[in-house]
Amino acid sequence: MIIKESSEQASELVAHWIGKAIEQNPSAVLGLATGKTPLRVYEKLVQRHEAGELNFKKVKSFNLDEYVGIGPEHPNSYAHYMRSHLFAKTNFKEENTFIPDGLTQDIVKECRSYEKKIAKEGPIDLQLLGIGRDGHIGFNEPGSSLRSRTRLKTLTKETREDNAVHFSESSRIPIHVMTMGLGTIMEAKQIILMAFGKDKAQAVSLCVEGPVSAFVPASILQFHNNVKIVIDKEASSLLKNREYYEWVYAQKPDWQMP
Ligand code: PGA
Repeated sequence: MIIKESSEQASELVAHWIGKAIEQNPSAVLGLATGKTPLRVYEKLVQRHEAGELNFKKVKSFNLDEYVGIGPEHPNSYAHYMRSHLFAKTNFKEENTFIPDGLTQDIVKECRSYEKKIAKEGPIDLQLLGIGRDGHIGFNEPGSSLRSRTRLKTLTKETREDNAVHFSESSRIPIHVMTMGLGTIMEAKQIILMAFGKDKAQAVSLCVEGPVSAFVPASILQFHNNVKIVIDKEASSLLKNREYYEWVYAQKPDWQMP
């Protein structure tokens, strides 16, 4: 648990770790997230690439999820998001970036084939996650099987409202998505979950301190052996053990520091 003063500082740290993973393994396989939360991280990775410090030539990436019914050219598709915030601004090779095809005619086949690609290219070395107000990771909404694989999901009303702001008309936000499952996510070697702002405080506290339950899908991370949760002060406000987490971080021996 790492609680930073601001989302800016938290993003700096996460960008640093991603950079380190790529320096240590230029062919690293990243699991990438979309949404508001990782935006600053991507900006920082782009800056480091422009400064000649980061090379994405051999890096592979798998995105968590995609809306059903919109294609890569649609400004709200996650394929478009990834191109505009990261891929087109760095030297990622298109053939190394994977994301479910929102326009597929056969969703079951597309999801199975996505799993096969992850199995072939993976395991994912480092999986980046945000968290929804309802505790989702990827688009695994409450009730998702804790062992689920990539599949079709139906968004909750809350998630559709949260994400509708990115669409020109709220009615246009898709109802269905394809998302990596919780079982898929749990196979990543290392996971970094980020959460910023008071709206995420309850989801963070249930994820970290609540019981493991399909009702709070992010709580499955309690079973993973290499997870970093990087949050800002606001997102930490409901944690019962907050002082302890801050104390632990402050006491970390040098060799454990980022
Ligand atoms: P956000 O979404 O980063 O836009 O808040 C996070 C999520 O829904 O997982």
